[in-house]
Amino acid sequence: MIPKNLKSILEIRRIGVECSKEVQKLIASSYAPRAELTKAANVPLAQAVAVQTERARHLLQQNASIGVFEKQSETLVAVSLNLIRFRSEMSKIYKDEPFENEFKWRHQLIKTQTDLEGNILEELGAEKICSTHMLTVHTSYTHMGIGTSLIKRMVDLAADLGCDYAIAHVTSKYAMEILNKSGWCLLRSIDLMQYKNDNGTIYFVNAKTPNNLFSLMYRPLLKSV
Ligand SMILES: CC(C)(COP(=O)(O)OP(=O)(O)OC[C@H]1O[C@@H](n2cnc3c(N)ncnc32)[C@H](O)[C@@H]1OP(=O)(O)O)[C@@H](O)C(=O)NCCC(=O)NCCS
Repeated sequence: MIPKNLKSILEIRRIGVECSKEVQKLIASSYAPRAELTKAANVPLAQAVAVQTERARHLLQQNASIGVFEKQSETLVAVSLNLIRFRSEMSKIYKDEPFENEFKWRHQLIKTQTDLEGNILEELGAEKICSTHMLTVHTSYTHMGIGTSLIKRMVDLAADLGCDYAIAHVTSKYAMEILNKSGWCLLRSIDLMQYKNDNGTIYFVNAKTPNNLFSLMYRPLLKSV
């Protein structure tokens, strides 16, 4: 599934907590500085890294994530951190939201995610879904087809695990292009430039086109088990 010209140097495989340190490095170097949602909310980078690292630790526990490694050095160069969720457990995206009470912005971002999601499993008539969080490719490897490979592999894994749908929360124009080309459908979007917080003021003060849309995308799966 890795693009042909990269097959001799890269390999793709399912990962779990054993890769926490490598994932943490990738988040600090490549994900957090480019994460459109936290950038739009003007979140200090160090806080974004801390929260995303803790979320990653939680996600990796499910062994449903996928990593791309340089074969020779075993360096992690790309990841799709995935979460399996059941209809009976849908009140929150994560069971233990890290830093929800410590950082004011965190509470607002969780609310925005909840607003975007609505009752997605009921809406789709699904019992079990796999959602991708923190899809990221190291800056030295972007635009080579790796993001597309990760999404394809994630869809296959979700089907293998008996999910009804694959889901993605999309904030980047490039991620949206990948999903569109890979046959995903748009459920809805929030325009961050218009989104207001509980006080009625525009919250994402740094949101800019073309990365101003926070979108929920899905792909129905043919279960293989
Ligand atoms: C989004 C991201 C994962 C894309 O990974 P990638 O490996 O570069 O993606 P691909 O090479 O598979 O690109 C697929 C498509 O995306 C678009 N794209 C990706 N990078 C692009 C670039 N620099 N310029 C223009 N189009 C680009 C193109 O449509 C491309 O298709 P093409 O190569 O046929 O033209 C990567 O840019 C990234 O890690 N971004 C930071 C974190 C992030 O925003 N994650 C997504 C959160 S929703």
